[in-house]
Amino acid sequence: MKADLIVGIQWGDEGKGKIVDRLACEYDMVCRSQGGHNAGHTIWVDGVKYALHLIPSGVLNPKAINVVGNGVVLSPESIIKEMAQFEGLEGRLFISDKAHLNLSYHAMIDQARERLKGDKAIGTTGKGIGPAYADKINRIGHRVGELLNPAKLCSSIMNYFEQNRDIFDILEIKTPNKEELLEELEGYRVKFAPFITDTTQMLWRALDEENKRVLLEGAQGTMLDIDHGTYPYVTSSSTVSAGACTGLGINSKDIGKVTGIVKAYCTRVGNGPFPSEDLGEDGKRLGKQGHEFGTTTGRARRCGWFDAVACRYASRLNGCDELALMKLDVLDGFSEVKICVAYELDGVEIDYLPQNLEDVKPIYKSFKGWSGSAGVRKFEDLPKEAQEYVRVIEEITKTKVGIISTSPEREDTIIL
Ligand code: GDP
Ligand code: IMO
Ligand code: MG
Repeated sequence: MKADLIVGIQWGDEGKGKIVDRLACEYDMVCRSQGGHNAGHTIWVDGVKYALHLIPSGVLNPKAINVVGNGVVLSPESIIKEMAQFEGLEGRLFISDKAHLNLSYHAMIDQARERLKGDKAIGTTGKGIGPAYADKINRIGHRVGELLNPAKLCSSIMNYFEQNRDIFDILEIKTPNKEELLEELEGYRVKFAPFITDTTQMLWRALDEENKRVLLEGAQGTMLDIDHGTYPYVTSSSTVSAGACTGLGINSKDIGKVTGIVKAYCTRVGNGPFPSEDLGEDGKRLGKQGHEFGTTTGRARRCGWFDAVACRYASRLNGCDELALMKLDVLDGFSEVKICVAYELDGVEIDYLPQNLEDVKPIYKSFKGWSGSAGVRKFEDLPKEAQEYVRVIEEITKTKVGIISTSPEREDTIIL
């Protein structure tokens, strides 16, 4: 069967983890295809919170197999901490031998470069994502499969340190010595050997079976895509649906339903243009009601109104069959809610994203607010104005809404 895909439509943190977890019971396999532990996917089940960074959000479903694909940059240190939360992962978690390693020096390079950029900093998560992907593209990276031969990997990394000594010196980064590195890598071999495999073959076998269902879990969001996002204020991977193919070794015909995840408003962590950001009381209130603090870094997220121009763009880029509209409950209690329906650029109204997105002004349409959507599980039980808001979003973004979420809890979800 074809694989269904969950993809972030805004600047990340839309609620992908909640939806993947909610849907996972219907799937046999859940796969991550890109990103690394910059991702923070939160799941709440019966009042218990789980924060996942590298392990796919299918892990709470005992029946689903979880795959970390070749397009991911894997921090062994980070995933080991995550793995400690769960028992019996052997046979339920598989990591691609082709995924690239994101080691501690990548994070040090990331943080040092951000410091040097000063007020031009991207506002990365500081997790080494950019440097790890840069090594991959420069063909000087190291892959997860190499962990199976620590001595060989160790000498290859020591060579890499020597060849890049000037960079480490300029950034004042102390690299480990051979003995320290070998000990670390030996530990990883013991830990990861049961999990490393050719995940592409696994995925092909599942896709070729008539009754096996596969769900692909995007990380970050479309507006953070390396090509199609707000460059250079983006992450370093292909976050759009097309990226899931290279990140797992499947082809575009293997993709079935694409669900774009959007908040009923907008947030962004880190720097870069955000046309519908609200720096006034409404933005503060959205942040407070939505508990908008990063799962990975704890940073306060910038908040603003739903941007229909960006959503329409992202929906087309990803080929969304439907949207999942998240956090509708966060708009409860506003007397008026707004949607950015177009931009103004140099006095002219436009309905697309220009290169100089930082220069546009949002054009809003206002709608009557509502109360009482929190925890609602049936569309007809939503306040009339909230129902109307959903219909307006469908109309302006030209994409139907297939899922509505009204609280962090798994079951507070309306499937239309
Ligand atoms: P992800 O990175 O896309 O998985 O999203 P995050 O987990 O980083 O951020 C989404 C946050 O919103 C998490 O704290 C979720 O628990 C929470 N959340 C998800 N859906 C809803 C919802 O419908 N209502 C509310 N109030 N919170 C939600
Ligand atoms: P999930 O999967 C929100 C942002 C960072 C920064 C930019 C580059 O939880 O939605 P990076 O560390 O990737 O080089 O940072 O991208 N960013 C995210 N923002 N959610 C995420 O992931 C993010 N992953 C990276 O804040 O602006
Ligand atoms: Mg997140």
